[in-house]
Amino acid sequence: MNATTRFCARIVGTGMYVPEKVLTNADLEKRIDTSDEWIRTRTGISERRIASKEESSSVLGLHAARAALKDAGLEASEVDMIIVCTSTPDVLFPATACFVQRELRASRAAAYDVSAVCSGFVYGLSIAEQYLKSGRYRHILVIGAEVNSRIVDWDDRSTCILFGDGAGAVVLRREEVAEPVGVLSTHIYSDGSLSELIHVPGGIGLNGFSGGAIDPKQYCIHMMGNQTFKVAVKRMSEVCREALAFNGMEVDAVSLVVPHQANQRIIDAVTEKLAIPAGKVYVNIHKYGNTSAASIPIALCEAREAGRIGEGDLVLLSVVGAGLTWGAALLRW
Ligand code: COA
Repeated sequence: MNATTRFCARIVGTGMYVPEKVLTNADLEKRIDTSDEWIRTRTGISERRIASKEESSSVLGLHAARAALKDAGLEASEVDMIIVCTSTPDVLFPATACFVQRELRASRAAAYDVSAVCSGFVYGLSIAEQYLKSGRYRHILVIGAEVNSRIVDWDDRSTCILFGDGAGAVVLRREEVAEPVGVLSTHIYSDGSLSELIHVPGGIGLNGFSGGAIDPKQYCIHMMGNQTFKVAVKRMSEVCREALAFNGMEVDAVSLVVPHQANQRIIDAVTEKLAIPAGKVYVNIHKYGNTSAASIPIALCEAREAGRIGEGDLVLLSVVGAGLTWGAALLRW
C-alpha cells in the first residue's frame, strides 16, 4: 500500500436462497382469524417461504454462500472468515458458521455466529469491514440465514403473519484503492432496556432444562408490535442520517436504500422522514415477509440481479431488530 491508497472492504459477490414452500396469506386465513386484506394493508406481506424439515439455517446459508462465491468467482479455500448472522442457529453449539465452513471445505476460514437478530447482517458487515480495512484478512463471507418458522407461534396472529425463512450472503474483498469504495462506514447500536419488545424467553442459560415440563410457547417469538413499530421508525431514520452525515453526504446522493424488510409501513415511514422517494427504495417484503438477518442480503442480491445497483452507486442499508439493536451501512458499489 502506498501513501495515496487505502484498504477498502468491497462486496464482490452476492447470493441468496429461499425454500420452495410458499405460505400465502390465504393459507394463513385457514389457520387463524385473519385476512389477506388485513395482512397486506398492515404489513405489505402477501406470502412467505417456509423451510422443509431438512432445511436448517446452515443448509439455507450454504446455498446462499455457494451462490455468492460463484458470483465473486472465488474458491471457498480462499475465504478467511465466515460469519453467519442468525437467531435460529442449527444447535446451541457449535456455531452454524462451522457447519457452513465444513460443507464448503473452506479449510482456512475462521467461523462463528453473530446474534443480533434482524440487525445481524449489518453487525456482521461491520465486523468484516474492520478485518478487511485493517489489512488483516482478504476475503470474508457474511451470511444471514434464518428459519423463523421454527420459532413462530402459529396460534399468535400478531406475529406468525410477519416472519419467513431464507438466506442471503455476500463475499467481501479487501482492495487497495485511492478513492474509498465498498463499505464506506457502518453504524451499529443497541439498547438492552428494550429487550422485551421482541424476544424468545426460552433458552438454556437462564432456566436450563432441569425440572418441569418445557413450555413450547416459551421458545416462540413474543412481540409488542405497536411499540416496536414506533421505535423502529425512530432508530432507523436516526441512524440513516448519521451514516450520511458521517460521510459528508446528502440524502439526494443515495442511489438505492435497501432497508430491513420488517413492515412496508415502517419502510414507508422511515423513507418519508428522510425524504427519499419510493422509487429509490428496494422492497421485496410482499414475497418473503421478515426473514430477520437474511432480509438485507436477500434484498441486496435481488436488487443487483434486477439491475437496480450498478458500479459507483451509493447504497444505504438500515435495520432494526430485537435487542433492541439497530444500524446502518453506507456502501459505494
Ligand atoms: N389479523 C387480523 N387482526 C389482527 C391481526 C391479524 N393478523 N393481528 C392483530 N390483529 C388485531 C389486533 O388483535 C387488534 O385488534 P383489537 O383492536 O380488536 O384489539 C388490531 O388488529 C390492531 O392491533 P395492533 O397491534 O394495534 O395492529 P398494528 O396496526 O400495530 O399492526 C403489527 C400490528 C404487528 C403488524 C405492527 O405493529 C408491526 O408490524 N409492528 C412492528 C413489528 C416488527 O416489525 N417487528 C420486527 C422488527 S425487526
